[in-house]
Amino acid sequence: MSDAHALADSFGRIHNYVRISVTERCNLSCEYCRPDQAGAASSPEPLSFDEIASVVAVLADMGVTKVRLTGGEPLVRPRLEELVARLHAVSGIERIGLTTNGMLLAAKARVLREAGLTDVNISLDSLQPERFARITGGGDVGKVLHAIGSSLDAGFQRVKVNMVVMQGVNDDEIESFLQLTLKYPLDIRFIEYMPIGRGTKGWQTGYMPLGGILERCTKAGWAFEPVSSADPGHGAALGHGLTMDTSDSGPARYYRIEGAAGQFGLIDPVSKHFCMTCNRLRITASGHIKPCLYWNDEWNVRPFIGKSEQLKQLFLRSLEHKPGRHEMPDGLTESGSPRPLQENTVRQMSQIGG
Ligand code: 5AD
Repeated sequence: MSDAHALADSFGRIHNYVRISVTERCNLSCEYCRPDQAGAASSPEPLSFDEIASVVAVLADMGVTKVRLTGGEPLVRPRLEELVARLHAVSGIERIGLTTNGMLLAAKARVLREAGLTDVNISLDSLQPERFARITGGGDVGKVLHAIGSSLDAGFQRVKVNMVVMQGVNDDEIESFLQLTLKYPLDIRFIEYMPIGRGTKGWQTGYMPLGGILERCTKAGWAFEPVSSADPGHGAALGHGLTMDTSDSGPARYYRIEGAAGQFGLIDPVSKHFCMTCNRLRITASGHIKPCLYWNDEWNVRPFIGKSEQLKQLFLRSLEHKPGRHEMPDGLTESGSPRPLQENTVRQMSQIGG
């Protein structure tokens, strides 16, 4: 890789991580994520596996080492393992992750692992069957739990479980999720509800900062300590309370309950934004580069596929326009409670890929 092509933005942030949405379609319909019916009907033709692999090869040449496949639900795309194998063969790509709702994962975990997938993130917002079905528009929590077990058995380097914490919806289950780490070698990650797309409506009532979780852990009688950056696979906590993505932990700050098999992480993009350590680019299913999750600016890669020099210039141009930070924290009042927000992102989360 030549320095002239390093994926640096105007703030000096270097990008080595790309998240690619492989489809806008999803087999669930979570309140905070789903497009309306009209949006769902007009899903664009997604990039083909050939196109994705060719874009990733160009990005790897520019210093990208990590790819995450997102959606929609990536596993509704048939033969996803073939894409994983293609990306695994790209020189320079060291990690390939998948973010999934887990409904279709149990039967596929092993074949995906064998194809070269290194990490899975499974979304799970409730352990209660009825509540889970309500939040997800018909999901089966049993299938997701089974998928988590299959992923552990398949030998992934990290199996992460993402819970979007929503006040009055699932915040009474925080302790139950913490408890999962006692027995299982999982990373349970609590995520602040972000005001993205149509999610802004539910956000005003559902948003809650994660600040209280450590206290609740103590109250439940569990001693815990921060997981240090010396532990393999975990990011370094910086002095200012932010976490640098030095390895694969992303923006989470991790803790471990004494004697626990797993650990838990806090991801608080709203109350403590971590934009200054952002190292990620996103590509939507329709093939648009989104340098920031929150902003609308996009660059279409399709016309440049197969023209690697022009594609490199397009990525560099998109990064020139990457903002220093998103504005989600501006949705909070001085006291930290949410205030009405304009809908900012035109795309829904299911279209951006989280
Ligand atoms: N706020 C926080 N997290 C969200 N996700 C989707 N929409 C939101 C939102 N508005 C989460 C999903 C998944 C990950 C990709 O992003 O639950 O775990």
